[in-house]
Amino acid sequence: MDQIFRLDNQIAVVLGGAGGIGEAIATGLGQFGAKVIVASRNQKTITQVAKKIAKQTRTQTASFQVDVTDEKSMENLVKSAVDQFGTVDILVNAMGVNIKCDALEYPMEDWDRIFDVNVKGTMIACKHFGRVMKSRGQGKIINLSSVRGIRGDGQGNSAYCGTKGAVELITKALAVELAPHKIRVNAIGPALIITPGTIHIKQNPESAEKYRSIIPLGKLGVPEDLIGACVFLASKASSFVTGQTIYVDGGLTAS
Ligand SMILES: NC(=O)c1ccc[n+]([C@@H]2O[C@H](COP(=O)([O-])OP(=O)(O)OC[C@H]3O[C@@H](n4cnc5c(N)ncnc54)[C@H](OP(=O)(O)O)[C@@H]3O)[C@@H](O)[C@H]2O)c1
Repeated sequence: MDQIFRLDNQIAVVLGGAGGIGEAIATGLGQFGAKVIVASRNQKTITQVAKKIAKQTRTQTASFQVDVTDEKSMENLVKSAVDQFGTVDILVNAMGVNIKCDALEYPMEDWDRIFDVNVKGTMIACKHFGRVMKSRGQGKIINLSSVRGIRGDGQGNSAYCGTKGAVELITKALAVELAPHKIRVNAIGPALIITPGTIHIKQNPESAEKYRSIIPLGKLGVPEDLIGACVFLASKASSFVTGQTIYVDGGLTAS
């Protein structure tokens, strides 16, 4: 029973694995014993992160390039992962983009770009890694949603909220459709997490206080806050859990 969170001999792919959240999740999965593939577009950063994780966790890692909006590129990633590791047990869709703009001014090319990465990219990844998992008769998919998947916030996030709402319902739809293949599909919905991309919020006392004041636990999140939920959803500990979003949000969505 004390091993239910262990991921030894599991193969995990983290898309966006060199991002602020993706790196923490990839490291956490490695710490719990998984072999970790870090993937995104920038070969230099994914190589650095994969090496760092291997050194820190003593697990086997690899880095492969992928553009999640390009189905052919995803097929190549799946092939590289299976060629090198034999299979894939865990997929984490930790890529994502946001382009903020007032709703009434929103440029539709930005709308398309954000939906391409956050929604289409998630679906392409689930489709192609889902096939590998189906062939094995088991798998775990974890999508990154956001508290903005269930809340509007009036801060120029209409497109982003739309993408995360879509990710939440895709998570439920795939959970039901893939359940006969013993593939579990869940999501994690963080509140603001301080990463290199959001550090400016923490550095500005006024905006830091604005975010902190709406979080019941009274603090801003850090990427490591997401490791527990991800390891839970990737491990046997959650074997009867599918189609759910765990909000790692300091109580924001409860208030
Ligand atoms: N940080 C937060 O406050 C927060 C809160 C709630 C939810 N989230 C969600 O959590 C996830 C991770 O966020 P983050 O803060 O870690 O973001 P981040 O630091 O900006 O990382 C995003 C990653 O996505 C990758 N990416 C972007 N476009 C891609 C594409 N076309 N193909 C492949 N990879 C692509 C980027 O790598 P390359 O540039 O190398 O491709 C990057 O590593 C996102 O889904 C985000 O919406 C974040």
